[in-house]
Amino acid sequence: MMDARLLWAFFRPSAWGRRAQDLVRVLSAHAFGTRHPLFVQFLVTARCNLACTYCELPPMRFAEMTDAEVSGVLDDLCAAGMRKVSFTGGEPLLRAALPAWIRQVQARGVFANVITNGWFLEERAEDLRGADLVVVSVDGREEAHDAVRGPGSHARALRGIEALRRVGVRVMTSTVLHRGTVDDIAYIVDLARHSGAVAIFQPVEFAPGCTPAAAADLVLPPDDLRAAYGRLLDFKRAGAPLAYSKWFLERAVRGERPRQCRMAGRLFCSVLPDGRVVPCNVLLGLATADGFLDARQGGVREAMRRMPRFECGGCAAGYQPLDAMLRWRLWELR
Ligand SMILES: C[S@@+](CC[C@H](N)C(=O)[O-])C[C@H]1O[C@@H](n2cnc3c(N)ncnc32)[C@H](O)[C@@H]1O
Ligand code: SF4
Repeated sequence: MMDARLLWAFFRPSAWGRRAQDLVRVLSAHAFGTRHPLFVQFLVTARCNLACTYCELPPMRFAEMTDAEVSGVLDDLCAAGMRKVSFTGGEPLLRAALPAWIRQVQARGVFANVITNGWFLEERAEDLRGADLVVVSVDGREEAHDAVRGPGSHARALRGIEALRRVGVRVMTSTVLHRGTVDDIAYIVDLARHSGAVAIFQPVEFAPGCTPAAAADLVLPPDDLRAAYGRLLDFKRAGAPLAYSKWFLERAVRGERPRQCRMAGRLFCSVLPDGRVVPCNVLLGLATADGFLDARQGGVREAMRRMPRFECGGCAAGYQPLDAMLRWRLWELR
């Protein structure tokens, strides 16, 4: 009988072969609890040029992997089956090696996107020419955006989006929904339409015990959040470029908690700037991320295998159905 490893390797080179491998990993994760880094958020730095009111990162200090170490961990992730990586931070454009890392993983068939505050985009757009997607944070109109993200940041993010458009990079705007931005939904939809982007919104949320004092007032009451989802659903039905599916929005309007992705620590992981591998950087609370292994030591697979168990509380990532994530066509969600 053919060795199972040979069969596995035989499938590797073709797109269909990769899909088959993905499917096996997904089924195995759900049936047997195996862990695979199919989707990865890679925090290449915790440093940032901004200090947004709602963000837990600015006061935190992390040791930072060298460029070569990041590259080594990326190789390891590719070998372990990574299909999509989001380079984020902190501000990922503070790492000069970012374009090289994008090319490195793309050469292995991985979808590479960058999540950025847009500050450096105008001068760095050319470096990002090959990226599969760049997500730019835009929190509403200039006044609302700058109030939370800092003076001048709105204008620079918008100029950055234009620069990306000029070099032909696909753009997604990402807006944090809170008291200051909830009335700017139409503005963002318009911005996305006119700049050929697709828009995503996510409610402001905090890991347990990690609410910055100045940000507590930003949280929307549940009824206001549902009303906001209602407006997004109307836009979606009218054909607006929103990365939500109608399926998700209809449930969100009814007040159902975004579907738990159930992937944190199983098919999804985050790599922290110091190399530790955690199940999720969104709801875990980075300040309390103790007991996780460094990918540089025993490798990514081992770090994932030995990760302490983590119950996903459900976050806005639930807008991404698994099939859409595997096809990587979020902008075509219906
Ligand atoms: C941590 S930032 C890192 C990338 C980059 N610095 C940026 O701002 O886009 C990633 C995304 O998380 C969002 N974010 C940060 N704190 C948040 C919070 N408490 N609730 C919801 N989204 C948050 C940001 O607006 C941004 O879109
Ligand atoms: S720009 Fe991004 S990483 Fe920096 S403080 Fe704002 S949300 Fe946090």
